[in-house]
Amino acid sequence: MGRRRRRIAHEIKNPLTPIQLSAERIKRKFATQVRDHDDLEQLTDVIVRQTGDLRRIVDEFSKFARMPEPDRRDCDLADLLRGAVLLQENGQPGVRFTKTIPAGPLMLDLDATMIGQALTNLIKNAGEAIEAYRETSAPADFIPEIRVTLDADDSEAVIRIMDNGTGLPPDRARLFEPYVTTRDKGTGLGLPIVKKIIEEHGGSLALLDAPPFAPDAHPGAMAEIRLPRAARRKPKSQTQPEKTPQDSAGQEVKA
Ligand SMILES: Nc1ncnc2c1ncn2[C@@H]1O[C@H](COP(=O)(O)OP(=O)(O)OP(=O)(O)O)[C@@H](O)[C@H]1O
Ligand SMILES: [Mg+2]
Repeated sequence: MGRRRRRIAHEIKNPLTPIQLSAERIKRKFATQVRDHDDLEQLTDVIVRQTGDLRRIVDEFSKFARMPEPDRRDCDLADLLRGAVLLQENGQPGVRFTKTIPAGPLMLDLDATMIGQALTNLIKNAGEAIEAYRETSAPADFIPEIRVTLDADDSEAVIRIMDNGTGLPPDRARLFEPYVTTRDKGTGLGLPIVKKIIEEHGGSLALLDAPPFAPDAHPGAMAEIRLPRAARRKPKSQTQPEKTPQDSAGQEVKA
């Protein structure tokens, strides 16, 4: 078991360095030749960043065969979300992406690799549900669309990923269980991983019906992530801080 795991990890890691180096070469070599220089840089940076993330995930996987512990740092969730959307925008050229993401930074204490992975899984699911709808019952004038929003108040950040695909299957309560899939090539591991990542950040994940995108369109699905803004560790003991005078006096711990 351990050997097979290491072999798989090895085979995944092998092409990562050449992929990364090629992207860096493309960036250097064509920087002066293309008109859309910013695009070139942004897109090649996405490749470099994602290969780095993959390498880390695989390293952790081969060591422990489980999800890595989050390594949380102060980072800009708005920027992270923009990056994840950009990646999928390029991976799903037939789909319109509508983003409502605040312009400024939204700083949270999180593991950027893991949250990025969670967002990618959800946006991929949205695209796959759209693809399934297109192949089965979509009307001729169907416009495939994914809407991504980010809202925040003092206590939490909320990300919503909405699509106008097939909509959730009837047995939606089971979708967070491992190996539950309705797709031929699906592993059914995407959502359980997303849920685990979000919960390790003290947040929650819900799957709901999306509001219909057009007056009598059928509803697709909506994934809703809530992340607390205050640094909160994995809720092992589930102790709720009570508002007692001592608490307000000196309980708050800043990283
Ligand atoms: N946006 C969505 N719209 C409709 N159904 C969805 C959506 N997201 C998930 N589902 C349903 O939940 C199931 C489980 O999703 P999950 O991401 O865990 O696995 P998968 O997508 O089938 O496989 P993998 O993630 O390995 O590619 C999907 O097969 C699909 O039936
Ligand atoms: Mg999936």
